[in-house]
Amino acid sequence: MSKLEHSSAELPLTLASVLIEAKRWVVMTGSGVSAESGVPTFRDAQSGLWAQYEPQQLATPEAFESNPEIVWQWYQWRRKLIRKTTPNAAHTVLARLQRLKPELILVTQNVDGLHQRAGSTEVIEFHGCIERNKCFGCEKRGPKSDSSYPPTCNTCNGLMRPDVVWFGENIPTAALTASSDAVNACDVFFSVGTSSLVYPATALAKMALSRKATTIEINPNSTPLSTRMDFTLQGPAGLWLPVIASLFDKNS
Ligand code: OAD
Repeated sequence: MSKLEHSSAELPLTLASVLIEAKRWVVMTGSGVSAESGVPTFRDAQSGLWAQYEPQQLATPEAFESNPEIVWQWYQWRRKLIRKTTPNAAHTVLARLQRLKPELILVTQNVDGLHQRAGSTEVIEFHGCIERNKCFGCEKRGPKSDSSYPPTCNTCNGLMRPDVVWFGENIPTAALTASSDAVNACDVFFSVGTSSLVYPATALAKMALSRKATTIEINPNSTPLSTRMDFTLQGPAGLWLPVIASLFDKNS
């Protein structure tokens, strides 16, 4: 299949026909999908969180051990920011596509819960969920909390932390297994709004590439995988995903 780059929002005909025929879709999303809702990405210059904060001091188990209050407060700030946002066209279209294509598997690196708020029911949370808490010691889940210091676990008295995957931590086994199985069986793999720099999330895209599934990237910028994808749809997710969903409109 030829490599195509489209900057006008018109799908290549070859891609349109593949998408209409293909049943098993996997859509992997990253923080770019929530950018149009006002949630900062991680690596975009200036606006990205990692342009302003040091990940080693905020998103590692070591950081939490040495300064739980700072880490907790940074997550409380992000929680408040995310609660004020609403799903955008990319989230709502993906929820609609899931209803139209029951075999579509949605995997997200995002912890913001916006896919679920848009109506997606089955979402594989690869990096966890920012609203949930779990114990840093025994990992038992605990209730939401608005306190400014991490609450304590009612089982082991350890400190509670956000239930997200930090650098150096493993992906939750169930999420890793379900997403690998889905990619192993997929006809079509979308990589949407991710820089494809973080592993093992990027390994899923590489698995799709090696399986010869049809691969599509949606991103305004290029990534290390752009040139390997079958189709690179250059532009925001909120532009391209509605174009893709329109293929399934009854009157189109
Ligand atoms: P990055 O910040 O690394 O990449 C965001 C990507 O979104 C970039 O490639 C942008 O070009 C693209 N982008 C920006 N606006 C977009 C839009 N409107 N539509 C589509 N794409 C857009 O974020 P991630 O790839 O999600 O990990 O980062 C992966 C992981 O690194 C995150 O899950 C997080 C972070 O450290 C954890 O929290 C464990």
